[in-house]
Amino acid sequence: MKKINIAIDGPAGAGKSTISKLLASQLGYIHIDTGAMYRAVGLKVLKSNISPHDSRKIVEILNSTDIQIKLVDGKQLVFLDGEDVTEKIRQPEVSMYASDVSKIREVRERLVKMQQDLAKQKGVIMDGRDIGTHVLPNAELKIFLTATAEERAKRRFLELKQKGYDVDYYQLLDEIKKRDQNDMTREFAPLRVAEDAIVIDSTSLSIEEVLQKVLELFYKVVKDE
Ligand code: DC
Repeated sequence: MKKINIAIDGPAGAGKSTISKLLASQLGYIHIDTGAMYRAVGLKVLKSNISPHDSRKIVEILNSTDIQIKLVDGKQLVFLDGEDVTEKIRQPEVSMYASDVSKIREVRERLVKMQQDLAKQKGVIMDGRDIGTHVLPNAELKIFLTATAEERAKRRFLELKQKGYDVDYYQLLDEIKKRDQNDMTREFAPLRVAEDAIVIDSTSLSIEEVLQKVLELFYKVVKDE
Protein backbone atom coordinates (compact mmCIF):
# COMPACT_ATOMS: atom_id res chain seq x y z
CA MET A 1 0.00 0.00 0.00
CA LYS A 2 1.26 3.48 -0.86
CA LYS A 3 2.70 5.35 2.12
CA ILE A 4 1.53 8.86 2.93
CA ASN A 5 2.31 11.51 5.55
CA ILE A 6 -0.24 12.33 8.22
CA ALA A 7 -0.38 15.63 10.14
CA ILE A 8 -2.19 15.64 13.47
CA ASP A 9 -2.61 19.06 15.04
CA GLY A 10 -4.61 20.42 17.92
CA PRO A 11 -4.47 21.99 21.37
CA ALA A 12 -2.83 20.50 24.48
CA GLY A 13 -4.48 17.37 25.82
CA ALA A 14 -6.67 16.65 22.79
CA GLY A 15 -5.24 13.13 22.50
CA LYS A 16 -2.86 13.72 19.56
CA SER A 17 -0.04 11.63 21.00
CA THR A 18 -2.24 8.74 22.06
CA ILE A 19 -3.97 8.54 18.68
CA SER A 20 -0.72 9.02 16.74
CA LYS A 21 0.99 6.20 18.65
CA LEU A 22 -1.88 3.77 18.09
CA LEU A 23 -2.14 4.74 14.44
CA ALA A 24 1.61 4.33 13.94
CA SER A 25 1.66 0.84 15.43
CA GLN A 26 -1.42 -0.21 13.45
CA LEU A 27 -0.10 1.11 10.13
CA GLY A 28 3.59 0.40 10.66
CA TYR A 29 4.29 4.14 10.38
CA ILE A 30 6.76 6.31 12.29
CA HIS A 31 5.37 8.71 14.89
CA ILE A 32 7.11 12.02 15.53
CA ASP A 33 5.90 14.07 18.51
CA THR A 34 7.07 17.62 17.74
CA GLY A 35 5.88 19.01 21.09
CA ALA A 36 8.70 16.96 22.66
CA MET A 37 11.25 19.08 20.80
CA TYR A 38 9.79 22.36 22.11
CA ARG A 39 9.71 20.73 25.54
CA ALA A 40 13.43 19.92 25.25
CA VAL A 41 14.19 23.60 24.56
CA GLY A 42 11.83 24.56 27.41
CA LEU A 43 13.66 22.19 29.78
CA LYS A 44 17.02 23.62 28.78
CA VAL A 45 15.78 27.16 29.50
CA LEU A 46 14.28 26.05 32.83
CA LYS A 47 17.52 24.29 33.85
CA SER A 48 19.59 27.31 32.81
CA ASN A 49 17.55 29.65 35.03
CA ILE A 50 16.66 31.85 32.08
CA SER A 51 13.29 33.57 31.80
CA PRO A 52 11.17 31.86 29.09
CA HIS A 53 10.48 35.37 27.78
CA ASP A 54 14.13 36.32 27.32
CA SER A 55 14.37 35.61 23.58
CA ARG A 56 17.86 37.03 23.22
CA LYS A 57 19.38 34.72 25.85
CA ILE A 58 17.36 31.75 24.61
CA VAL A 59 18.59 32.18 21.04
CA GLU A 60 22.11 32.47 22.43
CA ILE A 61 21.96 29.17 24.37
CA LEU A 62 20.11 27.49 21.52
CA ASN A 63 23.23 27.82 19.40
CA SER A 64 25.17 25.65 21.82
CA THR A 65 22.34 23.21 22.51
CA ASP A 66 22.22 19.75 21.00
CA ILE A 67 18.74 18.26 20.53
CA GLN A 68 18.36 14.83 19.03
CA ILE A 69 15.44 12.59 18.32
CA LYS A 70 16.04 8.84 18.18
CA LEU A 71 13.47 6.24 17.30
CA VAL A 72 14.07 3.02 19.22
CA ASP A 73 11.57 0.17 18.64
CA GLY A 74 8.99 2.72 17.51
CA LYS A 75 9.43 4.79 20.67
CA GLN A 76 10.67 8.35 20.33
CA LEU A 77 13.55 9.23 22.64
CA VAL A 78 14.62 12.83 23.13
CA PHE A 79 18.23 13.72 23.93
CA LEU A 80 19.24 17.12 25.24
CA ASP A 81 23.00 17.75 25.16
CA GLY A 82 23.53 13.99 25.12
CA GLU A 83 21.18 13.23 28.05
CA ASP A 84 18.04 11.16 27.57
CA VAL A 85 15.30 13.60 28.73
CA THR A 86 12.33 11.63 27.36
CA GLU A 87 10.70 11.48 30.82
CA LYS A 88 11.96 14.79 32.23
CA ILE A 89 10.32 16.85 29.50
CA ARG A 90 6.92 15.55 30.67
CA GLN A 91 7.22 17.31 34.04
CA PRO A 92 4.20 19.64 34.32
CA GLU A 93 6.40 22.74 34.84
CA VAL A 94 8.02 22.21 31.44
CA SER A 95 4.71 22.64 29.54
CA MET A 96 4.42 26.42 29.88
CA TYR A 97 8.13 26.89 29.20
CA ALA A 98 7.72 24.89 25.99
CA SER A 99 4.77 27.05 24.95
CA ASP A 100 6.69 30.25 25.73
CA VAL A 101 9.89 29.30 23.89
CA SER A 102 7.83 28.13 20.91
CA LYS A 103 6.95 31.77 20.21
CA ILE A 104 10.54 32.56 19.28
CA ARG A 105 11.16 32.56 15.53
CA GLU A 106 14.70 31.13 15.74
CA VAL A 107 13.52 28.26 17.95
CA ARG A 108 10.78 27.39 15.48
CA GLU A 109 13.06 27.62 12.45
CA ARG A 110 15.58 25.24 13.97
CA LEU A 111 13.00 22.67 15.09
CA VAL A 112 10.89 22.87 11.92
CA LYS A 113 14.00 22.09 9.87
CA MET A 114 14.62 18.97 12.01
CA GLN A 115 10.97 17.96 11.64
CA GLN A 116 10.98 18.36 7.87
CA ASP A 117 14.16 16.27 7.64
CA LEU A 118 12.57 13.52 9.74
CA ALA A 119 9.54 13.44 7.41
CA LYS A 120 11.51 13.21 4.16
CA GLN A 121 10.55 9.60 3.77
CA LYS A 122 6.80 8.87 3.62
CA GLY A 123 5.01 6.87 6.28
CA VAL A 124 5.26 9.50 9.00
CA ILE A 125 2.60 10.59 11.48
CA MET A 126 3.63 13.93 12.92
CA ASP A 127 1.74 15.59 15.74
CA GLY A 128 1.96 19.20 16.89
CA ARG A 129 0.38 22.61 16.40
CA ASP A 130 1.55 23.74 12.96
CA ILE A 131 2.20 20.51 11.10
CA GLY A 132 -0.62 20.78 8.55
CA THR A 133 -0.29 24.56 8.16
CA HIS A 134 3.47 24.96 8.13
CA VAL A 135 5.78 21.96 8.67
CA LEU A 136 4.18 19.51 6.21
CA PRO A 137 1.76 21.58 4.10
CA ASN A 138 1.64 18.74 1.55
CA ALA A 139 0.69 16.01 4.02
CA GLU A 140 -1.90 13.80 2.32
CA LEU A 141 -4.05 13.56 5.45
CA LYS A 142 -4.51 16.37 7.96
CA ILE A 143 -6.44 15.93 11.17
CA PHE A 144 -7.24 18.65 13.69
CA LEU A 145 -8.04 16.93 16.95
CA THR A 146 -9.77 18.95 19.61
CA ALA A 147 -11.91 18.71 22.77
CA THR A 148 -13.25 21.15 25.34
CA ALA A 149 -10.68 22.66 27.73
CA GLU A 150 -12.45 20.96 30.67
CA GLU A 151 -12.21 17.52 29.06
CA ARG A 152 -8.56 18.07 28.12
CA ALA A 153 -7.70 19.21 31.65
CA LYS A 154 -9.48 16.13 33.05
CA ARG A 155 -7.41 13.83 30.80
CA ARG A 156 -4.17 15.61 31.72
CA PHE A 157 -5.11 15.37 35.40
CA LEU A 158 -5.68 11.61 35.23
CA GLU A 159 -2.52 11.06 33.16
CA LEU A 160 -0.27 13.03 35.53
CA LYS A 161 -1.92 11.54 38.64
CA GLN A 162 -1.23 8.08 37.26
CA LYS A 163 2.42 9.01 36.81
CA GLY A 164 2.53 10.01 40.49
CA TYR A 165 2.46 13.82 40.13
CA ASP A 166 0.59 15.81 42.75
CA VAL A 167 -1.61 17.96 40.50
CA ASP A 168 -4.69 20.12 40.90
CA TYR A 169 -7.47 19.94 38.28
CA TYR A 170 -8.29 23.67 38.37
CA GLN A 171 -4.65 24.63 38.09
CA LEU A 172 -4.32 22.33 35.06
CA LEU A 173 -7.47 23.80 33.51
CA ASP A 174 -6.12 27.29 33.97
CA GLU A 175 -2.78 26.29 32.45
CA ILE A 176 -4.43 24.60 29.47
CA LYS A 177 -6.44 27.76 28.76
CA LYS A 178 -3.34 29.93 29.05
CA ARG A 179 -1.40 27.60 26.77
CA ASP A 180 -4.24 27.60 24.18
CA GLN A 181 -4.18 31.37 24.21
CA ASN A 182 -0.39 31.47 23.94
CA ASP A 183 -0.27 28.91 21.11
CA MET A 184 -3.13 30.47 19.12
CA THR A 185 -2.03 34.08 19.30
CA ARG A 186 1.72 33.84 18.70
CA GLU A 187 3.12 35.57 15.64
CA PHE A 188 4.89 32.65 13.94
CA ALA A 189 2.93 29.58 12.83
CA PRO A 190 0.16 29.82 15.45
CA LEU A 191 -2.18 26.96 16.23
CA ARG A 192 -5.01 27.03 13.71
CA VAL A 193 -6.99 24.61 11.58
CA ALA A 194 -5.42 24.07 8.14
CA GLU A 195 -7.87 24.77 5.31
CA ASP A 196 -7.74 21.14 4.18
CA ALA A 197 -7.78 19.56 7.65
CA ILE A 198 -10.58 17.42 9.01
CA VAL A 199 -11.68 18.46 12.49
CA ILE A 200 -12.47 15.74 15.01
CA ASP A 201 -13.94 16.80 18.34
CA SER A 202 -13.05 14.03 20.76
CA THR A 203 -14.88 15.46 23.80
CA SER A 204 -17.42 12.66 23.95
CA LEU A 205 -15.56 10.03 21.95
CA SER A 206 -13.48 7.14 23.26
CA ILE A 207 -9.90 6.63 22.07
CA GLU A 208 -11.12 3.66 20.04
CA GLU A 209 -13.83 5.77 18.35
CA VAL A 210 -11.35 8.50 17.40
CA LEU A 211 -8.93 5.89 16.09
CA GLN A 212 -11.66 4.32 13.94
CA LYS A 213 -12.58 7.71 12.47
CA VAL A 214 -8.96 8.48 11.60
CA LEU A 215 -8.45 5.02 10.10
CA GLU A 216 -11.55 5.47 7.90
CA LEU A 217 -10.15 8.78 6.65
CA PHE A 218 -6.75 7.20 6.11
CA TYR A 219 -8.09 4.33 3.97
CA LYS A 220 -10.18 6.76 1.95
CA VAL A 221 -7.11 8.89 1.17
CA VAL A 222 -4.88 5.90 0.39
CA LYS A 223 -7.54 4.44 -1.94
CA ASP A 224 -7.79 7.73 -3.84
CA GLU A 225 -4.03 8.25 -4.11
O1 DC B 1 2.23 18.96 22.36
P1 DC B 1 2.85 19.48 23.66
O2 DC B 1 1.81 19.86 24.67
O3 DC B 1 3.87 18.55 24.21
O4 DC B 1 3.61 20.83 23.20
C1 DC B 1 4.25 21.69 24.13
C2 DC B 1 4.27 23.11 23.56
O5 DC B 1 5.12 23.16 22.41
C3 DC B 1 2.93 23.67 23.09
O6 DC B 1 2.23 24.33 24.12
C4 DC B 1 3.30 24.61 21.97
C5 DC B 1 4.61 24.07 21.44
N1 DC B 1 4.49 23.40 20.14
C6 DC B 1 4.51 24.18 19.02
O7 DC B 1 4.57 25.40 19.13
N2 DC B 1 4.49 23.60 17.79
C7 DC B 1 4.42 22.28 17.66
N3 DC B 1 4.41 21.75 16.43
C8 DC B 1 4.36 21.45 18.80
C9 DC B 1 4.38 22.04 20.05
